[in-house]
Amino acid sequence: MSVQRVLSGIQPSGRLHIGNLVGALQNWVRLQDQYECYYFIADWHALTSQYADTSQLKEFVKDVLVNCLAAGLDPEKATIFAQSRVIEHAELHVLLSMVTPLSWLERVPTYKEKQSEVKDKDLNTYGFLGYPLLQSADILIYRADYVPVGVDQVPHIEITREICRRFNNFYGEVFPEPEGLLTQFPKVVGTDGRKMSKTYNNCVYLSDPPKEVEQKIRTMTTDPQRIKRTDKGDPELSPVFQLHKIFSTKQEQDEVAEGCRTAGIGCIDCKKVLIKNLFTVLEPIWEKRNHYLKKPDLLEDILESGSKKAREVAVETMLDARKAIGLGGLK
Ligand code: TRP
Repeated sequence: MSVQRVLSGIQPSGRLHIGNLVGALQNWVRLQDQYECYYFIADWHALTSQYADTSQLKEFVKDVLVNCLAAGLDPEKATIFAQSRVIEHAELHVLLSMVTPLSWLERVPTYKEKQSEVKDKDLNTYGFLGYPLLQSADILIYRADYVPVGVDQVPHIEITREICRRFNNFYGEVFPEPEGLLTQFPKVVGTDGRKMSKTYNNCVYLSDPPKEVEQKIRTMTTDPQRIKRTDKGDPELSPVFQLHKIFSTKQEQDEVAEGCRTAGIGCIDCKKVLIKNLFTVLEPIWEKRNHYLKKPDLLEDILESGSKKAREVAVETMLDARKAIGLGGLK
């Protein structure tokens, strides 16, 4: 049996933060040694909600690419590309749209949720409704076996599988049914204790300079009931401790938790341990970011040659898809 194929994408809708690092990128890096991996920057997906102001799009695409490389994705092992450079995704999106009942798209939970959540943008667009279908095209065009994603993406994997079956029912077995590969990771909390998200302005970005990372951690909220240094705290109520659970050793976690409960240490002492551990993870990333940011031609080459490789696979699949439908030429 040939090596199984993995595909995943990330939206360049903002700069990447440490939540994206531990939730997606580190997992992608692990998978690149085991599978034939295709990772892409979903720039069209970013446009589905950020079409009105595209002034930062290019910058965000570059930030995603640089962070992928800095986190350890190796273009020799994994194919890294941009969605918009493989226009076959759009063709498959159109073909899939023919067999997709509107109601299937309307009932995807992220559709209504995001529409009511996002107030500053008009998401009553055709592109936004089609978001999950575009994602289906992304996945099916590589005949991916596995799609590593977070739980929030499960409905999108489900609709992909349904559309896959429907297409195959009409036209024959063109696409294998992909499976989600759930990334088991606790939601990374932001500096204010809510989920880390650019909309909350509570992120530690991979592009933040060290001083800023330190500052952000130092000013993080802690157990709100621990006001004075002598007050005893509850680590479980402190977002700082949530980050310790991700970035610190078990022993360090036990020590800061005990120190917090007994008021043996202050919040700054606890934060210093976290800062040290965050720096250990981020320092090699900062170094590689700086390396790549000085080489714009190399970045362009990596993205273009990855896109070329991806295109070869996509073109191949589309030959089969067109032929199955009866669009494969007259003979
Ligand atoms: N919707 C995904 C997200 O927001 C990004 C994405 C687009 C994706 N196309 C994909 C993920 C295909 C996996 C496979 O995280």
